[in-house]
Amino acid sequence: MIKFLDLKAVNKRYENDLKKAFNNFLNSGQYILGQQVLEFERSFAKYCGTNYCIGVSNGLDGLTLIFKAYMALGKLKEGDSVIVAANTYIASILAIINAGLKPVLVEPSPNTFNIDSKEIRKYISDKTKAILVVHLYGQLCEMKSITELSKQHDLLIVEDAAQAHGAFDSQLNKKAGNLSHAAAFSFYPTKNLGALGDAGAITTNNKVLAETISKLRNYGRISKYKNDIQGVNNRLDEIQSVFLNIKLPYLDLENAKRRIIAKRYLDNINNKKIVLPYWDGTENHVFHVFVIRTEYRKELQDYLLKNKIQTLIFYPIAPHKQEALKEWHDLSFPITENIHDQVLSIPINPYMKDDEVEKIIKVLNKYECFY
Ligand SMILES: Cc1ncc(COP(=O)(O)O)c(C=O)c1O
Repeated sequence: MIKFLDLKAVNKRYENDLKKAFNNFLNSGQYILGQQVLEFERSFAKYCGTNYCIGVSNGLDGLTLIFKAYMALGKLKEGDSVIVAANTYIASILAIINAGLKPVLVEPSPNTFNIDSKEIRKYISDKTKAILVVHLYGQLCEMKSITELSKQHDLLIVEDAAQAHGAFDSQLNKKAGNLSHAAAFSFYPTKNLGALGDAGAITTNNKVLAETISKLRNYGRISKYKNDIQGVNNRLDEIQSVFLNIKLPYLDLENAKRRIIAKRYLDNINNKKIVLPYWDGTENHVFHVFVIRTEYRKELQDYLLKNKIQTLIFYPIAPHKQEALKEWHDLSFPITENIHDQVLSIPINPYMKDDEVEKIIKVLNKYECFY
C-alpha cells in the first residue's frame, strides 16, 4: 500500500538526532519557554525573513492571538469584519470568531483555490478591517495585488501560513510569513515542517505587535509576577522546539523534493477525467498536498484504493455547510461547494520512492470512468 503519508517513516530519518536531543532536553531541567524556544524563534524568524517570531501552542491559537493582539492595541474592535476564503480549513474561520470578529466568506479562484483581489474587492464594506489570506495547499495567494488593495482600503492583512512554510513570492522577493502584517504557522505533525505534537508560530515585523503577542501567549505577563493584560496559555512547548530545531534546516530540501514530485505528476498525469492543479512553476508552492479534481471522486478514490494507493480529501465539507456553523447553511458559494465535491489529494511527501510516484502516475492514467 502506498500510504497517503507515513509519519513514522518521515520522522525515522531524524530518529537518532531526536533521541539525542530528547536526552539533553530531559537533563536540562528546563521544560517551558527555555533556550530551545528562543533558538527556534530566532531561526524561524531568520528563515522567514521577519524581525520577530513568537512560538505558540498551535496554528489556530496563533491566528487567534494575532487578532486578539490587534484588539488589545486598538487596531481592531469586537464585531469588525475579516474577509477570508470560503473554502479554507475551518480553523481559519474559527480564529476570527474566537477573537470576537466577524468572518466574511469570499469565493476562491477555481484555478488556484485561493482568494484573489478581484473577488475580495466585491466584499469590502465599511466594517471590513482585515483580510485573512490563506495560502491553501501550500500555494501563495497573489500577494502583490492583495497588498495594493489593502493599502487602498487601509486594511490589515494576516497570513494563515499553516500549509505554506517556505513558499517564496518571487514578485515580492519574500517568503510566506513575511507577506503581511502578521502570519501564523502550524507545525502539526503532518505539515511540511511538523513537530511531534501540536506547535505553532507567529511571524511579524511589528515590534509592538510581537511584544503584545509574547505577553498574551503567557497570561499577559511582563515579568514573573506582573501581568499588564489579560492573556492565555498558548506557549510553544520547549520539547517541540527541540524537535523543530532539528527539522528546520531540512525544510528547503524537503520542499524542493515535493516540487520535483509535483512536476512529475503535472508532466505525466494525462487523463481527461482528472483536472490537475494550477502551478506557475516557481517556488510560490510548497505542495503541502497535491490536489486533483474529478467529477468521479468516489469512484476514483475506490479505484486507487483497489490499486493500493491511499488518498485523502481536503476537505469534504465546506465550512459554511458544517454543523458547527449552522447559521451559514443558507449561504451559497457555488465555486467553493464544487471544490469540496471534487477535490482529492494524492500522496506527496519528500520521502516517496521513485517507483511509488511512477505507479501513481500509471494507475491514474489507466483510470477509465464507467459512468
Ligand atoms: C489552513 C489551516 N489553518 C489553520 C490550521 C490550524 O493549525 P493547528 O492544527 O496547528 O491548530 C490548519 C491546520 O490544519 C490549517 O490547515
